[in-house]
Amino acid sequence: MPPLTIIIFGASGDLTSRKLIPALFHLDMAGLLPDDANIVGVARRPFSNDAFRSSVEPMTREAMLSMGESWFPGAWNRFAKRLFYVAGDATTTEGLQHLTEFLQKREGTTGGQRLYYLSVSPDLYPQIAARFGEAGYEKEIGGFRRVVIEKPFGHNLETGRAVNKSLHACFREDQIYRIDHYLGKETVQNILIFRFANTMFEPLWNHQYIDHVQITAAEKVPVGKRGGYYNDSGVLRDMFQSHLLQVVTMVAMENPGRYTADRLRNEKIKVLEAMKISKVEDAFNNIAVGQYDGYRNEEGVPKDSKTPTYAAIRLEIDNGRWSNVPFYVRSGKSMRSRYSEVSIQFRCPPHMLIPMPPGETLECNHLSLILQPNEGIRLNFQTKVPEVDGTRLQARDLAFDYRDAFTERALPEAYERLLLDAIMGEATLFMRNDEIEQAWEIMDPLIAATEAANAPQPEVYAPGSDGPKCADALLAKEGRKWQKIR
Ligand SMILES: NC(=O)c1ccc[n+]([C@@H]2O[C@H](COP(=O)([O-])OP(=O)(O)OC[C@H]3O[C@@H](n4cnc5c(N)ncnc54)[C@H](OP(=O)(O)O)[C@@H]3O)[C@@H](O)[C@H]2O)c1
Repeated sequence: MPPLTIIIFGASGDLTSRKLIPALFHLDMAGLLPDDANIVGVARRPFSNDAFRSSVEPMTREAMLSMGESWFPGAWNRFAKRLFYVAGDATTTEGLQHLTEFLQKREGTTGGQRLYYLSVSPDLYPQIAARFGEAGYEKEIGGFRRVVIEKPFGHNLETGRAVNKSLHACFREDQIYRIDHYLGKETVQNILIFRFANTMFEPLWNHQYIDHVQITAAEKVPVGKRGGYYNDSGVLRDMFQSHLLQVVTMVAMENPGRYTADRLRNEKIKVLEAMKISKVEDAFNNIAVGQYDGYRNEEGVPKDSKTPTYAAIRLEIDNGRWSNVPFYVRSGKSMRSRYSEVSIQFRCPPHMLIPMPPGETLECNHLSLILQPNEGIRLNFQTKVPEVDGTRLQARDLAFDYRDAFTERALPEAYERLLLDAIMGEATLFMRNDEIEQAWEIMDPLIAATEAANAPQPEVYAPGSDGPKCADALLAKEGRKWQKIR
């Protein structure tokens, strides 16, 4: 096999040291990297190979220890020999010159396999893709050429299309791997297995039995030092356009028949295309936004910022399976806890065998797919309280916990799975250009409504709370309420 080179642009950045190098090291320890694989870091600042190796070691060690694994200096030293550094500005022809020479020397006349990972600001993608095209980086001499890109994929539909166009000027669509680390999470992948490898739930997975669906992605941390970046995007771009709409597609899609990239992505796009698109003028019927108290004092945030740090949106999927089943999706920063789940709220029984006592209502079945932390599945159902006098009902959980069930190792990190998939050419968990554009079509009117000059100020919520009251009102007006954030 021709040699594999993984080229990380943005090698001195946060993502590289916190996620990419630890994931590659872990893959190496598991024997999953080819023997001859090398990793070349590229950024503008000068570094020697040794300085680069030393710069990424502490974060890798920290990542291993935080996963409950031991640190093996010998394994690191062996892995570090795979690491190289080439300084250069990837947006200029001269900047790529040294990298081109490095690759030519490594691959000789037979060529090699290359994975380009763009861990740089997305504003640079068009320029970098143009330089790649001029240097012939897309030509598959001796092996594949693939490019991995990180979100955000544009700022709205127009810029999202422009990013896709600039990438297509150099690469074929099947060479482009758009990463959404949510799809690399074990628990998100398990949504499909849960639905399609079990017979029990799929017959119920429709409007006849499901009243509504809730998806929550709560973060405990505030924006911290990322205020400048965050204020330009806000929660709707940062969490909804990609991560959360992707989770909705996994919950709502039809069985793809086979687990292949195109089959899966064809089904996901059908869900996105079936979503009703709000008009800007009545978007506030379907959205509630908040901003945590103190956000405007964060570094890099303007004192009059209207950027939402919390949003709850109501989506409708206009097809036979999901007719009249709202999907309520919420996400926010500085909330009570870090907690993500998909909650399927089933309809109540059409007739009650035992009438509820006056003033009490039945808690109808719900199923929680807990994505993080304490990953697991909980099915909430009614039981009879054991007692001799009378018949009382009480809701209880049937629970499955990943960490109890699979004790051998920590859940794999999303980046490990996604990097290995990109190396293997397995694109199932990466997003296609049409998914990105359709997701912007859905989000653009909602975002435009919150950014309009006459848009109301997002409601202030207390840090450490469950979000603003207006999010409760969004559900209350349809007689529903949010599940507790655990
Ligand atoms: N950090 C995260 O947790 C996270 C999460 C999700 C997505 N992302 C995405 O991942 C990407 C990287 O994020 P990050 O947080 O790692 O950013 P970062 O810490 O700001 O790092 C950016 C890197 O790009 C390099 N760079 C800038 N201009 C360059 C150029 N012209 N040529 C070559 N290298 C250049 C910088 O080094 P020099 O200044 O030395 O060139 C630096 O190594 C972004 O697309 C971001 O949106 C990050």
